[in-house]
Amino acid sequence: MPEQNPEVAAPYGGGAKDAAAPAPVKRVRTHHLAQMKQRGEKITMLTAYDMYTAQTFDEAGVDMLLVGDSASNNVLGNETSLPITVDELIPLTRAVANSANRAMVVADLPFGSYQASPEQGYLTAVRFMKEAGAHCVKMEGGAEMAPVITKLVQGGIPVVAHIGFTPQSEHVLGGYRVQGRDDAAERVKADARAVQEAGAFAVVMEMVPGDVAGEITRELDIVTIGIGAGNQTDGQVLVWQDAFGLRTGKMARFVKQYADLHGVLLGAAKEYVADVRATTFPGAEHTF
Ligand code: KIV
Repeated sequence: MPEQNPEVAAPYGGGAKDAAAPAPVKRVRTHHLAQMKQRGEKITMLTAYDMYTAQTFDEAGVDMLLVGDSASNNVLGNETSLPITVDELIPLTRAVANSANRAMVVADLPFGSYQASPEQGYLTAVRFMKEAGAHCVKMEGGAEMAPVITKLVQGGIPVVAHIGFTPQSEHVLGGYRVQGRDDAAERVKADARAVQEAGAFAVVMEMVPGDVAGEITRELDIVTIGIGAGNQTDGQVLVWQDAFGLRTGKMARFVKQYADLHGVLLGAAKEYVADVRATTFPGAEHTF
């Protein structure tokens, strides 16, 4: 039996592929994600903001790459996600869309670019689809965003909703806090139902108690992706600099660190500095 190419075989459950001559990689689409939910296969999402991370995560089999507005505080050096603009996010989204062969590329609509009206949201989303090559967009908000979601979906743009803790509203929500504890659970559930009804094909749930996220996941037909929402959601998302340790310092409780990229880069950069200072780089082999 020829060895399966997991990148090609998952998540479609297709037959064995010849590793020596792999079939062209199929793009992950909304119906594949819906099928994964039905089959109980977990969906993976990571943020990506540039070519090399997009290529690497795509190669690893990550199903969805989110060009998050978290680029604001993970790439551009801002304190929060609020300052980043559409014009700043579009080139990052284009880099990821140009580089991922398989993963679905999700463009995050930044703060102030869709909340004013469904028309504003549609025109912003069209820019991400046309100028950046995104495959869908994500927007924060629950029931109040239903008209915007419907407008986009009717206009041909798949939407990922984002409920629970929504970082663009951190000043209204009183900072980073779990949403949906006790009585507030009903509000999160109502938001989840509203975004499904409006036409979203998936919903990110951020910092929601695990049992509430599990109940919502079982009730909804659409795909749920959790971040700080326990392990009963259909999929998981993390900001890659958190997950792989490029960012240092205190992490949110929901982050698992899989690597210490800061340590690796720091060590390499120090070695380079020492080499140059000692004139051991460039060596003869690096010299024309
Ligand atoms: O912008 C982002 O990275 C996000 C994730 C936290 C889901 O919205």
